[in-house]
Amino acid sequence: MCGIVGFTGNHQAAPVLLDGLAKLEYRGYDSAGIAIRDGKSNTEIIKEKGKLKVLGEMTDWGNAVRGCCGIGHTRWATHGEPSALNAHPHSSDDENVIAVHNGIIENYQELKEKLSKQGYTFKSQTDTEVAVKLIDYYYKKYNEGPVDCIVRAMLRIRGSYALCVMFKDYPDEIYTARKDSPMIIGIANGETYVASDVPAILKYTRNVYYIGNHEIARLEKGKVTFYNIDREEISKPLTEIKWDAEAAEKGGYEHFMLKEIHEQPKVILDTINSVVQNGQISFESVDLSDDVMRSIRQVYIVACGSAYHVGMAVQYVIEELTSLSVRVELASEFRYRKMSLQDNSLVIIISQSGETADSLAALRSAKKQGVRTLGIVNVVGSSIAREAESVFYTLAGPEISVATTKAYSTQLIAGYLLALQFAKARAEITDERYAQLISEINSIPAKIEKILSDKERIQWFSSKLVGIKDAFFIGRGIDYAISLEGSLKMKEISYIHSEAYAAGELKHGPISLIEDGTVVISVVTQPELYEKTVSNMVEVKSRGANLVGVTTYGNYAMEDTADFVIFVPKIDPLFAGSLSVIPLQLMSYYVSVGKGFDVDKPRNLAKSVTVE
Ligand code: F6R
Repeated sequence: MCGIVGFTGNHQAAPVLLDGLAKLEYRGYDSAGIAIRDGKSNTEIIKEKGKLKVLGEMTDWGNAVRGCCGIGHTRWATHGEPSALNAHPHSSDDENVIAVHNGIIENYQELKEKLSKQGYTFKSQTDTEVAVKLIDYYYKKYNEGPVDCIVRAMLRIRGSYALCVMFKDYPDEIYTARKDSPMIIGIANGETYVASDVPAILKYTRNVYYIGNHEIARLEKGKVTFYNIDREEISKPLTEIKWDAEAAEKGGYEHFMLKEIHEQPKVILDTINSVVQNGQISFESVDLSDDVMRSIRQVYIVACGSAYHVGMAVQYVIEELTSLSVRVELASEFRYRKMSLQDNSLVIIISQSGETADSLAALRSAKKQGVRTLGIVNVVGSSIAREAESVFYTLAGPEISVATTKAYSTQLIAGYLLALQFAKARAEITDERYAQLISEINSIPAKIEKILSDKERIQWFSSKLVGIKDAFFIGRGIDYAISLEGSLKMKEISYIHSEAYAAGELKHGPISLIEDGTVVISVVTQPELYEKTVSNMVEVKSRGANLVGVTTYGNYAMEDTADFVIFVPKIDPLFAGSLSVIPLQLMSYYVSVGKGFDVDKPRNLAKSVTVE
């Protein structure tokens, strides 16, 4: 996601910051900035939208900005579009406090209101500017010092943060604080570095301190002092980093895809927390009112590839929870259909990149017919996000691997929350069921962690699939939607021919393809459809299939039918897809690794399909 680098030492800071930020480019970003101190109280803040190259050219690669202490940032927009104004560093109006921030401040609206009452005004749309001004407010109100005012702010802020702060009165110092957002501090040759990720400072030092949650550090040249939230000084061990530079960029994972698979619990939680507070969904940030939701009669979900598969799963959830009629359409087909959309329809476009040409064209064609539109989009400020009337941002962060995993999972979450909010606004759900379903959605991250903790078993089984030519995925209802995604993952990164079928369709043709050893992966999480799918499994088994079952703990009888069974935790069946998809992602990943393919960049594919 965003990248942070800070430096205080005897060299010029700007080139160190730009060099460090360049090492974090793989994380993806839309704007960048630096703030440099010249040892007195003069500060220069330079920030711009776009690639680091733009900032590099503006500053002659750092050589045009003089000063030995500074902080830098590459931003991946979450609050406010990518722009120079929203880029970090942010500062208080008198530049008393200047900071960069990674993470999300969940209660920034509430804090903004509090500060507005104290006369603060805001230039940007970011949550970071609110944090900066909160720190400034406490600094001036209590007149105690940097650590104290940062602690006071930390006690008020809800959410996640890695903060690097500079104060006018302390020109050679940087203060950092963190909660649930990574940050490391390194020391070498009488100079001190801070970064959100190892690669940024690996060139300068391998000796680092890991700053813990709710801890604060004061960085001086060649010296760091740590404090806990009670403002007591604490000591921390120095750790040596042994990774090579490339491994460091992937956070120790062999591929971005595996890293992104592991990020799913966190980004799902972020996406939930962006609209759920105290057990209630608020769509204020999405800009979709209950009145509008009540007026809708027909929903169209339009998307491509994996995002289309999300639509397939969400269709079942909306139809189960509401009386709405839902159609899921491939954007490439929808855009050329001569469909007349009714006035009281909602067209939902799902897109990670927000730039997929067909999805964008579908959005425009819906708008042309005067129909209300909603984007479920990951990239802030992308074309679909800009052009849709309402936008639900998934907070997956930048996805580097071409095959989507974490963006897909956050899109599912957005779809569930949308379904639930529709049901609530239209009075089609009881308060008890609503509360129960919110709590089930909240349980998803921990349940995914549990599946990931057993990934070695999936890895072991996947090694046996490396030589296969074909694979079939079957399921019914939501399990069918997940089968479509499992099948796409398998074919796109492992180059194994694979098909997904609604289990009930097997008899209508595909079953003739089953022969001795054909791999059939069956997703069976829906209690009402369990027996039906198991009988389809028995049918393929008796024709020689090598059968894999993905089902819920408790369905142990499946072991009598399938050759290999993967169990996922119990959850309300409406959300089971969020769990059953994880083993399928892992399976395709391990098969691709086993075949020695370039997992993150499969042949012929692009991350963002901006042409038809
Ligand atoms: C598959 C995959 C693609 C995308 C599709 C839509 O792993 O990533 O199928 O889902 O190209 O892309 P977005 O979501 O950017 O519109």
